[in-house]
Amino acid sequence: MNKTLVSVVAVFGLALATAAQAADMPPIGKAKCGSCHAVDRKMVGPAWKDVAKKYKGDAKAASKIAASITKGGEFGWKMGKMPARGLGASDADIKTLAGFIAGLK
Ligand code: HEC
Repeated sequence: MNKTLVSVVAVFGLALATAAQAADMPPIGKAKCGSCHAVDRKMVGPAWKDVAKKYKGDAKAASKIAASITKGGEFGWKMGKMPARGLGASDADIKTLAGFIAGLK
């Protein structure tokens, strides 16, 4: 009985760890955005998963998210202001990151 419970917990824990890895922030995100954002929890700015939810079902999600990142400012999260391009992301970085964020579930 106890053994079964332990192995169920172990398998579940492993599944969680794998899921967390799958949604890991790309290195460029860690460098240019990671001081204010995380994928699945609020920090200075919103969790990127919550941003993905905001744009869910929008065919232009990735380009709208890219426009927000490029411009910076306020997007209705009431968390303050985001600096344009975060900590200096290039157009190519922003494209990569917007695609990553739009693809989160
Ligand atoms: C200095 C902190 C800071 C940095 C660095 C930063 N952000 Fe933000 N970000 C914020 C804040 C604060 C908000 C929420 C603004 C508001 O209240 O509407 C935000 C909002 C966002 C949103 C939501 C846009 C929307 O349309 O709702 C996205 C996407 C985002 N950030 C992506 C990024 C990316 C990608 C980077 C790195 C290139 C980055 N951020 C760097 C603070 C930051």
